[in-house]
Amino acid sequence: MRYAATRMLLLVLAVTALAWGQSATAREAETIDELVAMFDDSKCAECHAEIYQEWKSSWHAQAVTSSLKGMRNFIAVGLAKEWKTKLNKAEVLKCLDCHAPAVNFASEKLATEIGGLIVTAFDKKDSAEGKKARKELARLNVGCLSCHNIKATTVARGLNGPAKQGVIYGPGGADAGDAHPTMETVDMTRSAFCMQCHGRYNAPDGETIQCNTLSGSYQNAYISRGGSKSCQDCHMKKGHLFPGGHDLETVREGLGFNVEITPYQHLPGKIKGVKDPKKWVPSAVVTAFIENKTGHRVPDG
Ligand code: HEC
Ligand code: HEC
Ligand code: HEC
Ligand code: HEC
Ligand code: HEC
Repeated sequence: MRYAATRMLLLVLAVTALAWGQSATAREAETIDELVAMFDDSKCAECHAEIYQEWKSSWHAQAVTSSLKGMRNFIAVGLAKEWKTKLNKAEVLKCLDCHAPAVNFASEKLATEIGGLIVTAFDKKDSAEGKKARKELARLNVGCLSCHNIKATTVARGLNGPAKQGVIYGPGGADAGDAHPTMETVDMTRSAFCMQCHGRYNAPDGETIQCNTLSGSYQNAYISRGGSKSCQDCHMKKGHLFPGGHDLETVREGLGFNVEITPYQHLPGKIKGVKDPKKWVPSAVVTAFIENKTGHRVPDG
């Protein structure tokens, strides 16, 4: 009897788990409008106006349109010509899992269409069709919810499971009243959180994509030599602007510059074009020391 009850309970649990699993995957956007609505960042601006403005002017806000050429080449040259691979969602995600994580929630058809838009936006950039494609793609990026939801729990998925729709994951889990439920996620304050995108993507088919080498050098050349700062320590000092290699002030901070000058004089001797070979010429040896003060190699690539 007791055995049967346990079996019954297990069955109920299994069925519930199945239902949850289904509801988590059933919602896939069929249009870009639907996809953008599922992860709508514009409404965050209402209450987090300053952060929104900072983010808007960061590279994260244009992570698809600013990388268009590379993505177009991956699709139109790499996949189509070199590897003769059909464009599908799995291939598109080899770029967009990091450049626009929301695309994980696009249907197979929509994700493939987005791949097509990337080619159109680049190849026909001067035509109305190309401009329209670019405008649509500009709505896809590393948005508030890419970090505060989709990628917030993936560093330790075993521990936290996939992010729940509608929940905001943040560093402190501050009570936001009726605005939104929040969940404390300490992982977000650690370098590992950034490194999932500023690092390697392991595609389900086994291919690994690495379009930047920064995390490797952070670990191997900075942390391993006693560096103790996190990515956030250096890159979120100014909040959500995330300045990097495109920001002159940050570049200056990152490079130590020291010059040593040793003056001397020399006798040129008989050289063509020198009028008086007996005259001493003032000269100097200039040695420039350029020190890397960042937490990784510079430049990245
Ligand atoms: C693991 C996550 C990840 C994947 C997968 C990924 N990227 Fe990137 N990509 C990044 C990050 C992070 C940067 C910014 C790196 C930097 O500035 O150091 C970047 C930068 C770029 C840039 C330069 C952007 C600029 O403004 O200079 C291009 C182009 C690019 N990626 C193309 C691609 C293409 C094409 C693919 C697919 C084949 C791809 N990426 C896949 C994370 C990724
Ligand atoms: C690239 C990832 C990323 C994006 C995009 C991002 N955030 Fe954050 N955000 C973080 C991280 C990481 C922290 C925690 C920083 C820390 O405490 O070390 C944080 C902290 C916060 C905090 C709490 C601390 C504070 O600064 O007040 C708020 C609120 C917040 N983000 C809102 C937003 C909003 C709104 C957007 C979109 C406009 C956004 N974030 C976009 C990564 C991101
Ligand atoms: C109606 C107002 C309102 C809206 C809209 C809103 N928030 Fe908040 N949010 C709050 C308040 C209030 C808090 C708690 C106090 C604080 O940290 O500013 C908060 C806190 C947060 C935190 C910090 C949580 C932590 O870990 O401490 C994050 C991150 C955040 N919001 C992100 C977002 C994002 C992303 C959006 C858009 C999807 C959003 N918020 C929309 C009001 C709002
Ligand atoms: C969802 C993936 C993702 C996450 C998470 C993420 N980034 Fe990024 N980040 C990108 C991509 C993609 C770009 C390149 C955007 C472009 O230029 O096309 C970028 C650009 C940047 C840049 C600007 C680089 C430049 O060339 O100026 C900095 C700095 C940066 N990220 C720091 C961080 C830090 C720090 C964190 C962790 C708090 C973080 N990022 C988390 C994907 C991500
Ligand atoms: C000790 C401070 C420090 C730490 C730690 C640090 N960075 Fe940087 N980072 C910098 C500075 C300064 C620059 C600008 C240097 C430059 O591009 O010349 C920079 C540049 C960048 C760029 C732009 C690279 C390029 O070539 O344009 C990205 C992206 C970036 N960092 C991401 C990260 C990520 C992700 C981490 C953590 C894994 C991290 N950084 C850790 C200080 C730091």
